[in-house]
Order: sequence, then structure tokens, then C-alpha cells
Amino acid sequence: MDLYEYQARDMFERHGVPVLAGIIADTPEQAQAAAEKIGGLTVVKAQVKTGGRGKAGGVKVAPTPADALTAAHAILGLDIKGHIVRRVMVAAGADIDQEFYFSVLLDRANRNYLVLCSYEGGMDIEQLAEERPDALARISINPATGITLAKAKEIAQAAHFPAELVDRVAPVFVKLYEVFTAEDATLVEVNPLVLTKSGDVIALDGKVSLDGNAEFRQPHHAELADSASADPLEEKAKAHDLNYVKLDGEVGVIGNGAGLVMSTLDVVAYAGEKYGGVKPANFLDIGGGASAEVMAAGLDVILGDPQVKSVFVNVFGGITACDAVANGIVQALAMIGDQATKPLVVRLDGNSVEKGREILAAANHPLVTLASTMDEGADMAASLASQ
Ligand SMILES: Nc1ncnc2c1ncn2[C@@H]1O[C@H](COP(=O)(O)OP(=O)(O)OP(=O)(O)O)[C@@H](O)[C@H]1O
Ligand SMILES: [Mg+2]
Repeated sequence: MDLYEYQARDMFERHGVPVLAGIIADTPEQAQAAAEKIGGLTVVKAQVKTGGRGKAGGVKVAPTPADALTAAHAILGLDIKGHIVRRVMVAAGADIDQEFYFSVLLDRANRNYLVLCSYEGGMDIEQLAEERPDALARISINPATGITLAKAKEIAQAAHFPAELVDRVAPVFVKLYEVFTAEDATLVEVNPLVLTKSGDVIALDGKVSLDGNAEFRQPHHAELADSASADPLEEKAKAHDLNYVKLDGEVGVIGNGAGLVMSTLDVVAYAGEKYGGVKPANFLDIGGGASAEVMAAGLDVILGDPQVKSVFVNVFGGITACDAVANGIVQALAMIGDQATKPLVVRLDGNSVEKGREILAAANHPLVTLASTMDEGADMAASLASQ
């Protein structure tokens, strides 16, 4: 889960990372009131989960509360890379002397953590990495030892911070690493980390991604999720403990096992090329136990997607045999009743496949067609979706 900047700011503050005052506002009037409360020069910042807000006109300096009102008027409702701004943060203005870059992230490929750090912040970090790679220090961090003060100084030196600044930024790196580990984050990024004219080091912008696998030990993270921006179908699937990802296509896909579902997406996309570019509408893994309830919940989610024109159920019977899956499908269709209006192509294979096919044939549901192979099923489903 990615956090909004204001959520990252609050999290930083709780862990002792230096930040400036920031108040969220959902209307221009609230932004004006926030600016009055903060006092002095403020900066009104769009709260959207995408980068490049400044360039898109989503970050505006407001010398007075009246300017904050005007700025919020301009920013609220703005479309930044497809994200509509619904909320701004009014932040205290910093008197910036220099801008730096710091991030710590999970480096899956190397089974390590990785720090990226640069004395030259402000500019687009991807651009810096490409154009002047030596300006961006990359330091792997052993999770067992983490970022001690000594390690933090090493990072600052590697990133070409001048000696007099090393001691000032190092403690902030230690705190940011504390946020990273204590909150089970996969990314903590500060761009820019600034040095103010009065010599303070402050995190002026924060991006935090939290590891969903750590939810069980981070109960307070649930409050950070915003249901408004999440896909309603994904919400529904989550409520049923289904692994569902909405995609942009017409063939609903249900399978058991992530690997099988992934390859089903591939064959459906491949078959779809013949039918004018029909594509899979989702990833949905119903896991090992394909009970009627789970199947019904899965179908319910998929049939709720208005983009879906046909559904391909691709199941390989293992511990849960095909007859149980077939019964699940029949019962699920009975449970869904009239709501089920889209054709279903079912391919069963593996344990008790014959019994499973007999059950479906006997049920003779008008919407269900049996396919004997995965390719055939994908082809049928794609063809049905294109009609
Ligand atoms: N509180 C502040 N006071 C003064 N200047 C600020 C403040 N916040 C941001 N700025 C200036 O605006 C620039 C852009 O701000 P910020 O990094 O928050 O947004 P962004 O980088 O455009 O967005 P994103 O990080 O989403 O790409 C900063 O580099 C900084 O120069
Ligand atoms: Mg930024």
C-alpha cells in the first residue's frame, strides 16, 4: 500500500524524522484556515499517489492565507496523471538552501535493502540515475545490521556530501531507516530532503510503501487504507479473501493456483488477438479449496465487472478434485441465479476430471460450455467475448 504524502509526513514525525507543520484540507476554505493556523509562507500541495506533482501544477507557494485559498482552488480537482486531486496539504514553507535525495527500499533481487542517496536532489531522480550515475550512491544494507550512525555517515560520504554536512544528515538517515523497518515498509523515499538557510535538515516530501504481508503485525496500518480510491471489485474480492486483480479486458478468468491463472491470462490474451484484441478482464486465483461458496464469491466479483463479456473457468483438480469443483460451479450458479447472464467456458483437468465433466453435463446449464483443453477454452471464451 502506498501512502499519501501527508500520511508519510505524520509517520515520519512519529519516528522523529524532522518535518514541517502540515495540515490537510478538502476545500479551499479549509486550506485558507490551515494557512492561517500555520502562519507565514505556506505551500499548498496536491495529495495524490503519483509523482511529478510540482510539474503538473500541484505544488504552489502561498505567501498569505488568501493565496492558499486561491492555490487550493486551482489544485483541487486537478487531474495529475489520471489522479483527481481531492485533498491538499498546506505545509509550512521552508527556506531552502539545498535539496538532497534519500531512499531506502527492499531489493528483492539481492535479498537485501538498498539505499539510494544523492547530494544533488531536486531534479528527477530517474533522470539523475541515467544522466549522471556517479552522482547517485547505491549502497546495499544488510538487514541484520541495518543503518547505524556509522553506516549513515558512510552513505553520506558515498553520496558526496561535504564533510560539514555528513554529521547533520546522518542522524536523519538513521531515523528514516527506523521508519522503514519499524513500519514494515518496502520503500521510504524523501525527495527532497532539504537543508534550510538556518541549517536544519528536513524531509520536505515523503513517499512510503507499506508491505501488505506485514498487515498482521501492523494493525494500525488498516486506518491508512483509502477505500475511496481502491477498486470496488478489488474491495469485494478482498472481503472474501480472494486474490483478485482487475485488468482492462473482456474475458473474466477464474483458476486455482497463481501459476495456472497467470498462464491462463497469457493464453486468453493470445487467443484474443484473433478476435479483435480481446483481453483478460482480471486475475482471480480461488486457491486450493474451490468450494461452492468460494466459486460463487469469485463469480460474483467477476460478473459484477461491467466490462466482462464472458468467463473462463480453468481448474486443475488436485487435492480439491474436479467433481467438487464442478459441484461448486453448479451450486454457485444456483446461488447467483438471474444475476448470472454471461457465458461461462469451463475447462477441468486433473483429479476426477471425468466425474467433474459428468456433473456439469448433467446440470446442462444454458450458460455453461465445456472445453477439453486450456487453449480450446481460451479460444471459446475469447470468441464469446467478441460477439
Ligand atoms: N514546504 C515547502 N516549502 C518550500 N518549498 C517546498 C515545500 N514543499 C515543496 N517545496 C518545493 O517544491 C518542490 C516540489 O515539491 P515535492 O517534492 O513535494 O513535489 P514533487 O516532487 O513535484 O512531487 P513528487 O514528489 O510527487 O514528484 C520541492 O523540490 C521544493 O523545492
Ligand atoms: Mg518530491
